[in-house]
Amino acid sequence: MDIFEAIDSRHSVRQYKPVPLSEEHKKALIEKIEEINSESGLEIQLVTDEPKAFDCLIAKYGNFSGVKNYIAMVGKKSEKLDELCGYYGEKLVLFAQQMGLNTCWTKMSYRKIPGAIKIKNGEELVIVISIGYGENQGKEHKSKKTDDVSKNYDESPEWFKNGIKAALKAPTAINQQKFTFGYSKNKVFAKAGLGPCRNIDLGIVKYHFEIGAGKENFVWGEEK
Ligand SMILES: Cc1cc2nc3c(=O)[nH]c(=O)nc-3n(C[C@H](O)[C@H](O)[C@H](O)COP(=O)(O)O)c2cc1C
Repeated sequence: MDIFEAIDSRHSVRQYKPVPLSEEHKKALIEKIEEINSESGLEIQLVTDEPKAFDCLIAKYGNFSGVKNYIAMVGKKSEKLDELCGYYGEKLVLFAQQMGLNTCWTKMSYRKIPGAIKIKNGEELVIVISIGYGENQGKEHKSKKTDDVSKNYDESPEWFKNGIKAALKAPTAINQQKFTFGYSKNKVFAKAGLGPCRNIDLGIVKYHFEIGAGKENFVWGEEK
Protein backbone atom coordinates (compact mmCIF):
# COMPACT_ATOMS: atom_id res chain seq x y z
CA MET A 1 0.00 0.00 0.00
CA ASP A 2 1.47 3.40 -0.90
CA ILE A 3 1.20 6.44 1.34
CA PHE A 4 -1.74 7.92 -0.63
CA GLU A 5 -3.70 4.70 -0.21
CA ALA A 6 -2.80 4.77 3.47
CA ILE A 7 -4.27 8.30 3.77
CA ASP A 8 -7.48 7.15 2.06
CA SER A 9 -7.93 3.92 3.99
CA ARG A 10 -6.91 5.14 7.48
CA HIS A 11 -9.77 5.62 9.93
CA SER A 12 -9.63 5.45 13.70
CA VAL A 13 -10.06 1.88 14.90
CA ARG A 14 -10.99 1.26 18.54
CA GLN A 15 -11.66 -2.51 18.56
CA TYR A 16 -8.69 -4.85 18.14
CA LYS A 17 -8.22 -8.58 17.70
CA PRO A 18 -6.75 -10.27 20.78
CA VAL A 19 -3.48 -11.19 19.07
CA PRO A 20 0.05 -9.87 19.68
CA LEU A 21 1.92 -7.79 17.10
CA SER A 22 3.90 -10.04 14.78
CA GLU A 23 7.68 -10.01 15.29
CA GLU A 24 8.05 -8.51 11.81
CA HIS A 25 5.68 -5.63 12.54
CA LYS A 26 7.18 -5.02 15.97
CA LYS A 27 10.71 -4.86 14.50
CA ALA A 28 9.62 -2.49 11.71
CA LEU A 29 7.88 -0.18 14.18
CA ILE A 30 10.84 -0.13 16.58
CA GLU A 31 13.22 0.72 13.72
CA LYS A 32 10.95 3.49 12.43
CA ILE A 33 10.57 4.93 15.94
CA GLU A 34 14.36 4.95 16.40
CA GLU A 35 14.78 6.77 13.08
CA ILE A 36 12.10 9.35 14.01
CA ASN A 37 13.48 9.86 17.52
CA SER A 38 16.94 10.63 16.19
CA GLU A 39 15.53 13.03 13.57
CA SER A 40 13.10 14.82 15.92
CA GLY A 41 14.67 14.61 19.38
CA LEU A 42 11.44 13.01 20.65
CA GLU A 43 11.40 9.97 22.99
CA ILE A 44 8.58 8.02 21.34
CA GLN A 45 8.11 4.52 22.80
CA LEU A 46 6.31 1.40 21.61
CA VAL A 47 4.53 -0.37 24.47
CA THR A 48 3.52 -3.95 23.66
CA ASP A 49 1.50 -6.62 25.49
CA GLU A 50 0.26 -4.10 28.04
CA PRO A 51 -3.54 -4.41 28.30
CA LYS A 52 -4.05 -2.33 31.47
CA ALA A 53 -3.92 1.19 29.98
CA PHE A 54 -7.10 0.57 28.00
CA ASP A 55 -8.74 -1.69 30.57
CA CYS A 56 -10.60 1.08 32.38
CA LEU A 57 -14.03 2.72 32.36
CA ILE A 58 -12.98 5.69 30.26
CA ALA A 59 -11.71 3.39 27.49
CA LYS A 60 -14.88 1.31 27.66
CA TYR A 61 -17.03 4.45 27.36
CA GLY A 62 -14.91 5.34 24.32
CA ASN A 63 -15.74 1.91 22.87
CA PHE A 64 -12.17 0.64 22.95
CA SER A 65 -11.60 -3.11 23.22
CA GLY A 66 -8.68 -5.49 22.84
CA VAL A 67 -5.99 -2.76 23.02
CA LYS A 68 -2.71 -4.34 24.11
CA ASN A 69 -0.22 -2.17 22.25
CA TYR A 70 0.24 1.56 22.00
CA ILE A 71 2.71 4.20 20.98
CA ALA A 72 3.55 6.75 23.68
CA MET A 73 4.37 10.20 22.31
CA VAL A 74 6.92 11.56 24.79
CA GLY A 75 9.30 14.50 24.46
CA LYS A 76 11.03 17.39 26.21
CA LYS A 77 8.57 20.07 27.31
CA SER A 78 8.57 22.98 24.86
CA GLU A 79 6.17 25.25 23.05
CA LYS A 80 6.52 23.14 19.91
CA LEU A 81 6.15 19.71 21.57
CA ASP A 82 2.46 19.17 20.74
CA GLU A 83 2.93 20.02 17.07
CA LEU A 84 6.04 17.81 16.84
CA CYS A 85 4.12 14.90 18.39
CA GLY A 86 1.29 15.42 15.92
CA TYR A 87 3.61 15.51 12.91
CA TYR A 88 5.79 12.53 13.82
CA GLY A 89 2.95 10.52 15.36
CA GLU A 90 1.00 10.74 12.12
CA LYS A 91 4.11 9.61 10.25
CA LEU A 92 3.96 6.44 12.40
CA VAL A 93 0.19 6.11 11.95
CA LEU A 94 0.49 6.10 8.16
CA PHE A 95 3.55 3.83 8.27
CA ALA A 96 1.50 1.37 10.40
CA GLN A 97 -1.46 1.64 8.02
CA GLN A 98 0.82 0.78 5.09
CA MET A 99 1.77 -2.45 6.90
CA GLY A 100 -1.89 -3.38 7.47
CA LEU A 101 -2.09 -2.24 11.10
CA ASN A 102 -4.80 0.00 12.57
CA THR A 103 -4.52 2.88 15.00
CA CYS A 104 -6.39 5.50 17.00
CA TRP A 105 -4.97 8.72 18.49
CA THR A 106 -6.06 8.89 22.11
CA LYS A 107 -5.78 11.88 24.43
CA MET A 108 -8.47 10.94 26.95
CA SER A 109 -9.50 7.31 26.59
CA TYR A 110 -6.72 5.56 28.54
CA ARG A 111 -4.97 5.68 31.88
CA LYS A 112 -1.26 5.93 32.61
CA ILE A 113 0.21 2.70 33.93
CA PRO A 114 3.18 3.26 36.26
CA GLY A 115 6.34 1.83 34.75
CA ALA A 116 4.93 1.19 31.27
CA ILE A 117 6.28 4.43 29.80
CA LYS A 118 9.60 6.10 30.65
CA ILE A 119 9.19 9.81 31.24
CA LYS A 120 12.42 11.53 32.30
CA ASN A 121 12.73 14.84 34.16
CA GLY A 122 11.65 17.72 31.94
CA GLU A 123 9.71 15.41 29.61
CA GLU A 124 6.01 15.00 29.07
CA LEU A 125 3.69 12.27 27.78
CA VAL A 126 1.62 14.21 25.24
CA ILE A 127 -0.71 11.55 23.83
CA VAL A 128 -0.84 7.86 22.96
CA ILE A 129 -1.80 6.00 19.80
CA SER A 130 -3.42 2.56 20.11
CA ILE A 131 -2.08 0.11 17.54
CA GLY A 132 -2.89 -3.43 16.45
CA TYR A 133 -5.00 -5.55 14.13
CA GLY A 134 -8.47 -4.05 13.92
CA GLU A 135 -11.70 -5.98 14.27
CA ASN A 136 -12.87 -3.50 11.60
CA GLN A 137 -11.34 -0.76 9.45
CA GLY A 138 -13.22 2.17 11.02
CA LYS A 139 -15.23 4.51 8.86
CA GLU A 140 -14.78 7.71 6.93
CA HIS A 141 -15.25 10.83 9.05
CA LYS A 142 -17.60 13.68 8.15
CA SER A 143 -15.48 16.38 6.63
CA LYS A 144 -15.48 20.15 6.28
CA LYS A 145 -15.31 21.44 2.72
CA THR A 146 -12.09 22.52 1.07
CA ASP A 147 -13.03 26.23 1.17
CA ASP A 148 -13.94 26.00 4.87
CA VAL A 149 -10.24 25.51 5.60
CA SER A 150 -8.62 27.59 2.84
CA LYS A 151 -9.68 30.94 1.40
CA ASN A 152 -9.57 31.22 -2.39
CA TYR A 153 -9.32 27.43 -2.71
CA ASP A 154 -10.79 27.49 -6.22
CA GLU A 155 -8.06 29.80 -7.57
CA SER A 156 -5.21 27.98 -5.86
CA PRO A 157 -2.59 25.88 -7.70
CA GLU A 158 -3.12 22.14 -8.10
CA TRP A 159 -0.42 21.17 -5.56
CA PHE A 160 -2.10 23.36 -2.91
CA LYS A 161 -5.50 21.80 -3.63
CA ASN A 162 -4.00 18.32 -3.27
CA GLY A 163 -2.48 19.33 0.06
CA ILE A 164 -5.84 20.56 1.37
CA LYS A 165 -7.61 17.37 0.26
CA ALA A 166 -5.03 15.24 2.10
CA ALA A 167 -5.28 17.45 5.22
CA LEU A 168 -9.06 17.00 5.33
CA LYS A 169 -8.59 13.22 5.51
CA ALA A 170 -6.39 13.53 8.61
CA PRO A 171 -7.56 12.60 12.09
CA THR A 172 -8.24 15.54 14.42
CA ALA A 173 -9.43 15.59 18.04
CA ILE A 174 -13.22 15.08 18.12
CA ASN A 175 -13.04 15.50 14.35
CA GLN A 176 -12.92 19.27 14.86
CA GLN A 177 -10.86 20.13 11.73
CA LYS A 178 -10.24 23.61 13.10
CA PHE A 179 -7.14 24.32 11.02
CA THR A 180 -6.72 26.71 8.11
CA PHE A 181 -4.16 26.90 5.31
CA GLY A 182 -3.12 29.80 3.09
CA TYR A 183 -0.31 30.47 0.67
CA SER A 184 1.67 33.22 -0.99
CA LYS A 185 3.69 32.13 -4.05
CA ASN A 186 5.42 28.95 -2.84
CA LYS A 187 5.05 29.71 0.89
CA VAL A 188 2.34 27.88 2.83
CA PHE A 189 0.95 29.07 6.15
CA ALA A 190 -0.88 26.67 8.42
CA LYS A 191 -2.81 27.84 11.44
CA ALA A 192 -4.41 25.97 14.33
CA GLY A 193 -7.92 27.02 15.32
CA LEU A 194 -9.17 27.10 18.89
CA GLY A 195 -10.00 23.78 20.50
CA PRO A 196 -8.57 20.86 22.47
CA CYS A 197 -5.33 19.38 21.12
CA ARG A 198 -5.16 22.20 18.55
CA ASN A 199 -1.39 21.99 18.10
CA ILE A 200 -1.31 18.20 17.94
CA ASP A 201 -3.93 18.47 15.18
CA LEU A 202 -1.80 21.12 13.46
CA GLY A 203 1.21 18.79 13.29
CA ILE A 204 -0.95 15.96 11.98
CA VAL A 205 -2.56 18.01 9.20
CA LYS A 206 0.79 19.55 8.20
CA TYR A 207 2.16 16.04 7.62
CA HIS A 208 -0.85 15.14 5.46
CA PHE A 209 -0.55 18.44 3.57
CA GLU A 210 3.13 17.74 2.75
CA ILE A 211 2.23 14.35 1.30
CA GLY A 212 -0.70 15.65 -0.74
CA ALA A 213 1.05 18.79 -2.03
CA GLY A 214 4.52 17.30 -2.52
CA LYS A 215 7.32 18.79 -0.39
CA GLU A 216 9.17 19.88 -3.53
CA ASN A 217 6.38 22.35 -4.43
CA PHE A 218 6.43 24.66 -1.40
CA VAL A 219 8.11 25.78 1.82
CA TRP A 220 6.45 26.37 5.18
CA GLY A 221 6.09 30.05 6.10
CA GLU A 222 5.65 31.49 9.57
CA GLU A 223 2.07 31.32 10.87
CA LYS A 224 0.03 34.34 9.72
C1 LIG B 1 -5.24 14.77 18.91
C2 LIG B 1 -6.31 13.72 18.89
C3 LIG B 1 -6.87 13.25 20.07
C4 LIG B 1 -7.84 12.24 20.04
N1 LIG B 1 -8.32 11.74 21.24
C5 LIG B 1 -9.26 10.75 21.21
C6 LIG B 1 -9.73 10.18 22.44
O1 LIG B 1 -9.33 10.56 23.54
N2 LIG B 1 -10.66 9.18 22.37
C7 LIG B 1 -11.12 8.71 21.16
O2 LIG B 1 -11.96 7.79 21.15
N3 LIG B 1 -10.69 9.22 19.96
C8 LIG B 1 -9.76 10.23 19.97
N4 LIG B 1 -9.28 10.74 18.79
C9 LIG B 1 -9.75 10.21 17.49
C10 LIG B 1 -10.70 11.18 16.80
O3 LIG B 1 -11.97 11.14 17.42
C11 LIG B 1 -10.79 10.85 15.30
O4 LIG B 1 -9.52 11.00 14.74
C12 LIG B 1 -11.77 11.76 14.56
O5 LIG B 1 -13.09 11.53 15.00
C13 LIG B 1 -11.70 11.56 13.06
O6 LIG B 1 -11.99 10.23 12.70
P1 LIG B 1 -10.95 9.32 11.88
O7 LIG B 1 -9.67 9.28 12.69
O8 LIG B 1 -11.62 8.00 11.78
O9 LIG B 1 -10.71 9.98 10.56
C14 LIG B 1 -8.30 11.73 18.80
C15 LIG B 1 -7.73 12.21 17.62
C16 LIG B 1 -6.74 13.17 17.66
C17 LIG B 1 -6.11 13.63 16.39
